[in-house]
Amino acid sequence: MNQTTEFHDRMLSLGLARVSEAAALASARLIGRGDEKAADQAAVNAMRDQLNMLDIAGVVVIGEGERDEAPMLFIGEEVGTGNGPAVDIALDPLEGTTLTAKDMPNALTVIAMGPRGSMLHAPDVYMDKLAVGPGYKRGVVTMDMSPSERVSALAAAKGCSTEDITVCVLERERHEEMIAEIRTTGAAIRLITDGDVAGIIHCAEAEETGIDMYMGSGGAPEGVLAAAALKCMGGQIYGRLLFRNDDEKARAKKAGITNLDRVYTLNDMVTADVIFAATGVTDGSILAGIKREPGMLTAETILMRSKTGSVRRMTYRNPVK
Ligand code: FBP
Repeated sequence: MNQTTEFHDRMLSLGLARVSEAAALASARLIGRGDEKAADQAAVNAMRDQLNMLDIAGVVVIGEGERDEAPMLFIGEEVGTGNGPAVDIALDPLEGTTLTAKDMPNALTVIAMGPRGSMLHAPDVYMDKLAVGPGYKRGVVTMDMSPSERVSALAAAKGCSTEDITVCVLERERHEEMIAEIRTTGAAIRLITDGDVAGIIHCAEAEETGIDMYMGSGGAPEGVLAAAALKCMGGQIYGRLLFRNDDEKARAKKAGITNLDRVYTLNDMVTADVIFAATGVTDGSILAGIKREPGMLTAETILMRSKTGSVRRMTYRNPVK
């Protein structure tokens, strides 16, 4: 094995796009089939196989779960050929398993890669998240502000009325109060049933998606993946881990987290330049879903590098036998 320290992000990026594509193509036959587990498993298998072809000495830091819960792509699993740069991998082979099973919008496959030690080892607990797109001064909205204060601050910075702001929120009982408070400002709310990585990425392309801000709690691992995307696209994200019990606190301690109340900024979650790829599984506002035609599958992938801020969109047509 020939492990190196230099992270050849430019050369590795196209390989990363293939990994994300492979997972999406594998889940294609399970879109709208009502079987979340099978869809997830197909994506996991394909992502792992493709990842293991890359010349990297990779370690999964955000993955399918702890080693005892996930047989594949578990946290700490070594991936790649072992020849090449030592890298951290954050992945979600199918972000939106329910969306896929029900053929609802914005299911994605997602993967990010950075030099070893570059990504927060977020435990599998909830994270309170707040994100906006590029073009605003740092701290334009903060975790300390109430939901309505955030809307007012963003509207002032954007130079518009609070009624012209759209906030994306996961539709959950735990968000009812927050939603009610946002409504007092007159802002619009885009409720999503799942998929907050896509929800947050939407903020980075506000003109196309119509979403200005994301807020609310979701998976902490998804928070790190969203931070990796915004590191490439621009924008701000803040996250605070939420713990429901001692077991969850123990998970955080095991992941090396000592300050349980810390508010993480984008650069705390992703500390060095990364590459990020996502492929659409079902149609969404940032990516087209897999298109199935007789003998052909078509996938759309977004591939980004934070070092250059480059964003590449690729369409892949794959003949199937
Ligand atoms: P899965 O695809 O793993 O089911 O995750 C979907 C998701 O909606 C994430 O995007 C989000 O962070 C999390 O689940 C929210 O969790 P919960 O459904 O418990 O509110």
